[in-house]
Amino acid sequence: MTEAESQDNQLEEETTRGSKNSSEQECTEPSFQPKILTFACNWCSYAGADLAGVSRFQYPPSIRIIRVMCSGRVHPDLVLEGFARGADGVLVTGCHIGDCHYIKGNQYTKSRMALVPELLSNIGIDPRRFKLDWVSASEGKKFSDMVKDFTNQVKELGPLKIKLEI
Ligand code: FES
Repeated sequence: MTEAESQDNQLEEETTRGSKNSSEQECTEPSFQPKILTFACNWCSYAGADLAGVSRFQYPPSIRIIRVMCSGRVHPDLVLEGFARGADGVLVTGCHIGDCHYIKGNQYTKSRMALVPELLSNIGIDPRRFKLDWVSASEGKKFSDMVKDFTNQVKELGPLKIKLEI
């Protein structure tokens, strides 16, 4: 390669980098690893996460799990607090409907969490940064896939730029 060709290549790389950085909507940091706060109920989802680990189903190291006895313990305020404390995404998981160890805990979760997307929109946070899903103790693969998909989704959205006060 001649010196002129080498300079052309370098210029092209810099131009490409520059144009990518000019868009604020796209995440331009390839190394961006989102922080995803995950609430997992003790009896199903946490056991599902554990099974994913034992079965060596890989998932990104983006999640920070908080184990709660039941997903019904998670109030929408805790989701907002997660964002306020630096999470780029929040995942709430529990037993499948009908399998809650406290009978109706996850039904309360379902109705409470239905409010979250609108709450987030109202304060300027993209609702795609939040996800509610059900994972049983035998669904290690599902847990791993869910974390991968959600991490990719949040990665595309980029770091959360809004600062919330607790
Ligand atoms: Fe798992 Fe209630 S115990 S959702």
